[in-house]
Amino acid sequence: MEESAPRSRRITFGCLVGASQVVGLASVVLTAVWMGHYHGGFAWDGTAKEFNVHPLCMVLGLIFLQGDAILVYRVFQNEPKKVVKVLHGIIHLLALIISIVGMVAVFDFHRTYGIPDMYSLHSWCGMVTLVIFCLQWVLGLLFFLFPVVSSQLRALYLPIHVFSGLVLLVLAIGSSLLGIVEKLLFSIMSTYSKRVPEGILANVLGILLVCFGVLMCYLISKEEYKRPPNPEEESLSIHFKSLTEGSPTSP
Ligand code: HEM
Repeated sequence: MEESAPRSRRITFGCLVGASQVVGLASVVLTAVWMGHYHGGFAWDGTAKEFNVHPLCMVLGLIFLQGDAILVYRVFQNEPKKVVKVLHGIIHLLALIISIVGMVAVFDFHRTYGIPDMYSLHSWCGMVTLVIFCLQWVLGLLFFLFPVVSSQLRALYLPIHVFSGLVLLVLAIGSSLLGIVEKLLFSIMSTYSKRVPEGILANVLGILLVCFGVLMCYLISKEEYKRPPNPEEESLSIHFKSLTEGSPTSP
């Protein structure tokens, strides 16, 4: 946060970031407990234990890590922009790898048992989310980390990139809620209405994911938490721009 920012604003910001981390980590732990305790744990053998890798990887990668990758711009306000950009890209890469592992796990599991692919609303929404996530990552790389386009195009794409990031987080949480309901219907359809512990645990997980999404949307959209423009970095980038694209005074 900015040095001059009022103390109370910095404290509120710190508390909200802390809360988001507690809620996000609790979601990951609860998913692991759900799959570990109620569904026999994890393995990579095509069985139901391999399916269990799917929810864990999706919640960890596409929700928790994706949220944190976005948050680095708000948290590290005094670090050089280049460093924050690289950190943003690395956390996103980690999120992408973990999500792909989670996706392979469920397709593998379906193949072992001859279960049809891509028939449910959850699978459609989930696939759309992952495809947009991959696109967003590649475009982010080409536009910002190793820019191959003009600074005008970059400036044009930036708000789209920021908006898509938030949409992706919302889509990932929405898809996970659908996945949670589907898993409950498969595993405890006859006892869900009796408020059995597994059903309650899964409901709490869903609520935590929604809370994580709300906290993230608030932290990311609030104007006063945004990274203030750094005159030094701005002038450096203008200098770089005039060197690479030619300024009105250059030949
Ligand atoms: C953003 C997170 C998620 C994404 C992108 C996602 C994506 C997908 C996709 C594409 C499939 C279809 C696989 C196939 O047809 O072979 C699938 C299956 C499944 N997922 Fe997820 N998933 C996510 C989170 C979750 C969570 C948290 C659960 C909770 C347990 C879950 C439960 C299931 C279940 C039960 C299936 C098998 C039935 C079906 O194909 O719909 N998913 N998921």
